[in-house]
Amino acid sequence: MDKIIVLDFGSQYSHLICRRIRSFSVYAELVPYNISFTKLKKMNPKGIILSGSPSSIYTNNHPIPTKYIFKIGIPILGICYGHQLIVSNFGGIVKNANKEYGSATLTIKNNSNLLDDVGENTKAWMSHGDEAVKIPDGFKIIASTNKSHAAAIENTTKFIYGIQFHPEVIHTENGIQILQNFVLKICNAKKEWSMKNFIDDATKKISAIKDEVMCGVSGGIDSTVTALLIHKSIGVRLKCVFIDNGLLRIDEVKVVQEIFAKMGIKIITINAQKRFLSRLKRISDSEKKRTIIGEEFIKIFSEYAKLNNNLKWLAQGTLYPDAIESGVSYGPSSIIKTHHNVGGIPNWMTLKILEPIRDLYKDDVRKIAAILNIPDEVINRHPFPGPGLAVRIIGEVTPKKLKIVRFASKIVEEELTKSKIYDEVWQAYAAVGDDHATGVTGDKRKVGNIVMIRVVNSIDAMTADWTRLPHAVLETISNRITNEVDGVVWVSYVISSKPPATIEPQ
Ligand code: XMP
Repeated sequence: MDKIIVLDFGSQYSHLICRRIRSFSVYAELVPYNISFTKLKKMNPKGIILSGSPSSIYTNNHPIPTKYIFKIGIPILGICYGHQLIVSNFGGIVKNANKEYGSATLTIKNNSNLLDDVGENTKAWMSHGDEAVKIPDGFKIIASTNKSHAAAIENTTKFIYGIQFHPEVIHTENGIQILQNFVLKICNAKKEWSMKNFIDDATKKISAIKDEVMCGVSGGIDSTVTALLIHKSIGVRLKCVFIDNGLLRIDEVKVVQEIFAKMGIKIITINAQKRFLSRLKRISDSEKKRTIIGEEFIKIFSEYAKLNNNLKWLAQGTLYPDAIESGVSYGPSSIIKTHHNVGGIPNWMTLKILEPIRDLYKDDVRKIAAILNIPDEVINRHPFPGPGLAVRIIGEVTPKKLKIVRFASKIVEEELTKSKIYDEVWQAYAAVGDDHATGVTGDKRKVGNIVMIRVVNSIDAMTADWTRLPHAVLETISNRITNEVDGVVWVSYVISSKPPATIEPQ
């Protein structure tokens, strides 16, 4: 299959470049920026993209790719930091000059295949402090903004292109068009990638495993798709394990067991409520909670593996955003939060990890789930984090706070389902912390907890916006929670988007 390779220099958006390219059916893969030249050549790419980076080419130890990369003879596109690497490599000058953040108007200066069909002026998203102030010999400026004279450059003899802006973010009006121009016209890559191909490829790879594979399942779409892909590949050699960590929603165990029974796949349920809850006592720091939960999961999987023919493999439904937020990307990205199944894995673990959907986003996984005939109730269920209600409880996890989030969340879900909003939003839940407020019930003073309702819209969890719920729905939710959930006197609605917030409070 024709492929485009993206070298990851650590930008939060590196993987979005792959995602956008795959959206027009060309296979794209992210690799670490320091991949060796031999490995890169072996991958036989039709084109290479150098991503952005939080680094500046002036900082010590800034990431540098193999020095042979610019002699590879296939088309290269540098984005932001990648653009500056190209400029400085060929003898141009990059300076810490005009900072440019946000939307800018890009004006075409010279015809170029790269900018075909984007119009004379177009909006482009900028995020840079350094700037190319002198372009190298042999290169031509093809577009500028007010602040960046060399916002887009090319050297058609060498097939090398550089753009200062980010075509991968939706705020760049014709970003997809520019990526299509590079990938389809300049690299001549064929549109050969589809979800069906992904399934065929994944099952082929998994079939090569001759051992039994244990798969951690939660009833969520990611681990269910993972389990089904493995089941399709190795049949009964798949062992699904569902751990009840005491941090689940109301009736979750029953629901998960029913889902798997419907699909004809056996699961083993392990009740580990006491283990998790006792380890979480007196722990209020969110990252500590996350690492404890991650470790406890692995302890239980390892114990189960030992008792069952020494299972060697642990499969998980890790997605790309889990990895990038845990700071475990391919490039030098920073930690946002440690997802239990990625950064939360202790280094003593000896199980081999299998993560067939690690390069995908949730919407890709939903498409695969539909092809695999996974029931709609699983496809449409809101994502639920592996560390469960522990990340929806701010501060220490206590039985009282668990009870509050369980019942309040159930009310949120019921009301959104009743008003036909549930399927329209990404996630909806109640969170609680240690803040108390004064209320008055039956003419008496009553001090109780404050519950926070969070409902968000998102496409891939990398960014999210709060949902503008109708006031009538908010009112019903608030009334029901203060009336039906013991110990709650105030209900608030969270109106922060991601960024700067994240979706879960902890
Ligand atoms: P944040 O809070 O990082 O969440 O904006 C993004 C998405 O990831 C889910 N999430 C997790 N899922 N293990 C998971 O399986 C985790 O540790 C974890 N932390 C957050 C969250 O529910 C949202 O959909």
